[in-house]
Amino acid sequence: MSSSPRTDWLPLEVPLIQGGMTWVSRHELAAAVSEAGGLGTLGAGGMDPEELRDEIRSVRAKTERPFAVNVPLVLVRPDQDQEVLGELLKVVRDEAVPVVVTGGGSPARYTPLLKEAGHRVMHVVPSVRLALKAEVCGVDAVVAEGWEAGGHIAANGLSSLTLIPQVVDAVSLPVVAAGGIADGRGVAAALALGACAVQLGTRFIATLECNAHPAFKHAVLAADAEGAAVYCRDYHASRALRSPLVERLIAMEAEGRSLEEILNLRGRHRARQGCIEGNLREGILPAGSGVGLVSQIVSVAELMRELTEGCDQALREAVYRRSSRPWRKAA
Ligand SMILES: Cc1cc2nc3c(=O)[nH]c(=O)nc-3n(C[C@H](O)[C@H](O)[C@H](O)COP(=O)(O)O)c2cc1C
Repeated sequence: MSSSPRTDWLPLEVPLIQGGMTWVSRHELAAAVSEAGGLGTLGAGGMDPEELRDEIRSVRAKTERPFAVNVPLVLVRPDQDQEVLGELLKVVRDEAVPVVVTGGGSPARYTPLLKEAGHRVMHVVPSVRLALKAEVCGVDAVVAEGWEAGGHIAANGLSSLTLIPQVVDAVSLPVVAAGGIADGRGVAAALALGACAVQLGTRFIATLECNAHPAFKHAVLAADAEGAAVYCRDYHASRALRSPLVERLIAMEAEGRSLEEILNLRGRHRARQGCIEGNLREGILPAGSGVGLVSQIVSVAELMRELTEGCDQALREAVYRRSSRPWRKAA
């Protein structure tokens, strides 16, 4: 697998991107991914501006390759306000971060500012409509994320399989595929759908370099195909590992309980509790529906090799299956 012409805007050796993950994508992970030839991403969600500055400098101390910072345009930490967003973006500009990934809000206001400051900008979109809007706003690439993804998702229910090719057809920008991709076969499928690169989140939690609590990593390994579920469908829908808390939130929605009651239970610090403190009962552990494919904690270098080789093998086998017509033999 080599990077396609449409990844030339980003000098990557392999078209693999580690998605920014609030709480669990810090410099050790981001630097390892970039060093392995992909694009590592710091998740600025949940960070204070000075913490972000330190993290950016720590990435630079470990690698000279390009990396990204993911800045959620709607901040997830309750004690942070929009002023903090401005401060985070100022740090990103001061530190001349090569790539900025935005999402969770409109790209209209910030894209021109980020472009003017010299960053490459990618915006995460869950629909064709928002992909077109991001293109008009001047982003360099869009990340088309299906609702298989871990973390916040769109309530439109569009799968990666249907979303990615429709976004590829609609925009003339490079399209990065995300959502439910956890092994080389998924990478091959996304490239076959027309994506120029692939972004993974959940699979990177189970790496040695990820700072997630060991209990979170082991919960990822233990989860099966139905191990992650969507909760809070009507307000900031999210996908996370099933847990007593997530099951309770889902039940409350089914019972028609008020949004206020549901948000009260969801609380304010649940993701931190789950991801960093390893509280599997009361915390929230965001993960995508590809979680059942994750069975080992490996180093980032090993994972990148597995994904690359697995992709090549999947593509070869697909061509073989198509040309050898196995369905005829079965008949
Ligand atoms: C624990 C976790 C935290 C995440 N936090 C963010 C975030 O802060 N900003 C963002 O744009 N996406 C976030 N995401 C989404 C990832 O960047 C990525 O696009 C997604 O995980 C891809 O789907 P996958 O998990 O099925 O691989 C998060 C995902 C996970 C699993």
